[in-house]
Formats: sequence, C-alpha cells, structure tokens
Amino acid sequence: MIESQGPSQRRNLMTTTPFKTSPLSDHHGLVIESADLPLAELPHSEIADLFKQHGTLMFRGFGATADDFRELVQRFSSKLFFHQNPNRETISDDGAVLLVDAHRNPIPAHSEMSYCPLHPDLQWFYCVRPADEDGETTVYDGVEAYKRLAKETRDLFDKLRLTWRLPFPTAPEHQERVFGTADRAELEALFATFDDFEYDFDDAGNLDWKWTVSAVPQARYVDAPTLCNSYLGSGAIVSFEDGSTIPQHCRWDALDATEEVRVDLQWEAGDIVMIDNKRVMHGRRGFEDPDRKVAAMLSTPNF
Ligand SMILES: [Fe+2]
Repeated sequence: MIESQGPSQRRNLMTTTPFKTSPLSDHHGLVIESADLPLAELPHSEIADLFKQHGTLMFRGFGATADDFRELVQRFSSKLFFHQNPNRETISDDGAVLLVDAHRNPIPAHSEMSYCPLHPDLQWFYCVRPADEDGETTVYDGVEAYKRLAKETRDLFDKLRLTWRLPFPTAPEHQERVFGTADRAELEALFATFDDFEYDFDDAGNLDWKWTVSAVPQARYVDAPTLCNSYLGSGAIVSFEDGSTIPQHCRWDALDATEEVRVDLQWEAGDIVMIDNKRVMHGRRGFEDPDRKVAAMLSTPNF
C-alpha cells in the first residue's frame, strides 16, 4: 500500500525525473515519454512507485521492439506467466510474448485470469501495429468503477463472493501448461496454497475445480476496494458463493460503471502498457483491420 502523493510532491517528482509524464485520463493512469533515457535505464523504484499510485502506465516514444518489451517486463517481474489459451501466436523465441486473441470483436472489461487463483498481478501489452481505425485496448480503473456501481449491486458484491468453475475439466495433457506441472503431488501441494479452492480428479486424471473470491476485492497497492473480476466476460462459469444466480441488473450496472471510467488507449507502434491486474480491468474496441498486432504478457511483480 502507498500513500497517494500530494500536489507539491507530485510536481517535484515530475520536474526532477529524466522522463516526461502526463495523465492518461482524468482519473487514473500515467503516460511516461522518452526524454533522454532509453527504456532499459528507466529507474526501477521510481517507475514502480508511479505504477502503484496510478494503476496503468503507458511507455511511449521509446521505439520499443518486441525484445525491448520482454526485457522491460523481465526487469519488473519475478515470474512470467504463460497464457492458458494455446491458440495464440508467439512473436518471441522463448514463446513468452504472445499476440492477443486473434478475433476482432469488442471485449468487455475483465481482469486477466481473475476466474482462477493463478490470477496474475501484472498485465502488459505491446503494440506492434495499431489497427488502421478502431481496435483500441481499453482500461478501466476498478476503484473508480466500484464507486459508480448502483448501491444495490455494490451491496450484493460486498456481501456475496463469486464462485468460478471452468465449463470442462482440465485434462492431464493441459495441466502442465496451466499449472506448471502435471504431477499429482505437486499439483496438490500447489492447490493447498490457494484459499477457497476445491478440486477433484476423476479416474482418468481430469481435474475439476471451483474457486470462490470477491468480485470487489481490496486492491493490492492502494487501500480501496476495486471492481476487478471477469464477470462481464470470460469462458468460465460464475454464480454467487451460495449457488444463487447473479441477477441480470448486476450485469447492466457493472457495464454502466465500467463504461463511465473507460479509457481508450490510442495505440502507436512501439507503445507498451503496464496494468495493475488486481485493480484495473482491460478490454478492447472492435475493429476490422486484419493486420492489427498487439502482444501481451502476464507476470508477477518484483516490487
Ligand atoms: Fe484480456
């Protein structure tokens, strides 16, 4: 948790840092632009502090390549995650930098992999080539969205957590990709570290699980609840923890609240965005251009 900085401290920071900053929106996020320093020499602790405070950082004007992107992610991460979707194209030799979902449809606000306890802390995007029009990646500060929920929905989410399940079991051949191991004892040791996680293996070794977690958890770096989940869009199945169906009005309220705080990232080639996946949700606007290329990485912070 950090204290938010007062205006005088913030002015001081902006005038003494070797890079330029400007607000990403009127309520969250910061754009960091190249001045003299190359991307690889941005000061780690200063960038980490700005990230904790602002929730989303966009790095612009550094002319970043895919390798620069991976190096930046590695500098701020203790662990990289490999996405659970096997149908994504890789653009780095080690397979860590993957293009985002290849479809062109709009995607509503969600927090990556927040339906499972592997929920990563950091979501990263890198623009190889923007769409010729539309196709913006969108970000939504969950702290602001939480405040904008209709009271009835906020009260329900405060009171009842969500229970998530996958629509089909995870077969043994997919367990290594998802959990890092297919060894039963190692899996059971890993699952013992998860709160409110129940699981079962059938005779063929297929894994079923369900996980219960708040739809409005405490943010990791700021002392506030945040609407940060995958309720508006994911392939997973969700209900309230008591088994009851989530009323439809909650969906409309969550859509309204997220739309009110939506920030469209107007991509330029070489842009990198770092998102607090435990506070800020992301999505995308639809597009037609088949040559739009945006890559993504997921990681655990080293700060
Ligand atoms: Fe996503």
